[in-house]
Amino acid sequence: MSNVVVVGAQWGDEGKGRLVDWLAGEADIVARYNGGHNAGHTLVVDGKTYKLALLPSGLVRGKCGVIGNGVALDPEALLAEIARMEQLGLTVTPDNLAIAANATLVLPIHRAVDLAQEKLRREPIGTTLRGIGPAYEDKVGRRGLRVCDLAEPDLLAKKLDALLDYRNAWFKGLGLDGFSRDSMLPMLRDIAPRVLRFVRPVWAYLNEASDEGKKILFEGSQAVMLDVDWGSYPYVTSSSTIASAAATGTGLGASRLGHVLGVTKAYATRVGEGPFPTELQNEIGAMLRDRGREFGVNTGRPRRCGWLDGAQLRQSVKVSGIDSLALTKLDVLDGLDFIDICVGYEINGQRTDFLPASLAAQSRAKPVYERFMGWSQPVKGQKRFSDLPREARDFVKRVEVIAGAPLSLITTGPERNDTIVLHDPFEI
Ligand code: IMP
Repeated sequence: MSNVVVVGAQWGDEGKGRLVDWLAGEADIVARYNGGHNAGHTLVVDGKTYKLALLPSGLVRGKCGVIGNGVALDPEALLAEIARMEQLGLTVTPDNLAIAANATLVLPIHRAVDLAQEKLRREPIGTTLRGIGPAYEDKVGRRGLRVCDLAEPDLLAKKLDALLDYRNAWFKGLGLDGFSRDSMLPMLRDIAPRVLRFVRPVWAYLNEASDEGKKILFEGSQAVMLDVDWGSYPYVTSSSTIASAAATGTGLGASRLGHVLGVTKAYATRVGEGPFPTELQNEIGAMLRDRGREFGVNTGRPRRCGWLDGAQLRQSVKVSGIDSLALTKLDVLDGLDFIDICVGYEINGQRTDFLPASLAAQSRAKPVYERFMGWSQPVKGQKRFSDLPREARDFVKRVEVIAGAPLSLITTGPERNDTIVLHDPFEI
């Protein structure tokens, strides 16, 4: 089986984009299966900076990109991103981008709902305000518009009317202005041909490609702890972010997904609100933020920083079926006197080795740490495991044991080749 699914094993921003970019060199197809333009990553290729949110990053490496049915697709954001890529010299055509006909559309009304909901919440989630959550709400509420509807003008108008009936009643109840058919329908009809040119039966395309032995790389967005079931609900995103979502979100069967690569930083970060047991609100947290450049790609928000939560990581390995881990940003820990890893929690005086489902219990969880010596010789830029200082090797080996999964890759710097390859995920 030559496919690889890349998933975030923490709270997002683990450096998945960079690893996907690295692995894309070996893949034939790179497929997105969840989330929307709430995701974001930056790629620097030949001195050009590509900021991607919706487009699969393999496009930049000349691979075919797929946007699966599990993605919440904002057509305006997509077209704007394509235009930005074309300004950088990357041509996006139906030959290198395929969009699933059954993907859900994110519309301006969803952005407005996202904003209004955040204002209405007594305790805001800190969403990206891209409208992703409300679009998924409409999907499971069975009133959403889908990409294929753009090809059917009459049906599109009918479905839009039904959606507006529902959503405008909500706006009216809050004393807010709703949306009119006259403002939305022309916009949708205008963008329709520009989106429809990319549409094909993605499920069939991926199954055929897999039958032919082509390598598919699944690019997960967000991370296990932001999963709508497995994350710290309700401080989560609205989609399933674990590896099995690659099957439901593209139409390639679960048994054909291949190797699951979980990505974790050597420490932990979180954007937005919600429990984060190992958060460091001190000078070490600030140091991790500065040295790790921990600010959102899309929103610029500073990320909360803390020690690696090994107990949480172990849980992610289990629920997402992670076969091996990529440990990123090891160099950010260079020069620290000591490094802690959380190995379990104390909740109401009781020791537990997993994060319970209850938000209240998660918020009370006090980390139990194992302490490691820091290293004085920098790991930055190292390309061989044997060249790492002994303390760094000990730390890395212990991560494998605590997490319960072997490491296949370690990144030691921002450059593409600042990578230690222990095993090639496509070859395992
Ligand atoms: P939403 O996905 O915009 O609804 O935001 C819900 C939560 O997920 C918020 O805490 C966001 O900060 C978080 N989130 C969404 N996308 C990402 C991401 O790509 N990286 C990190 N956090 C994210």
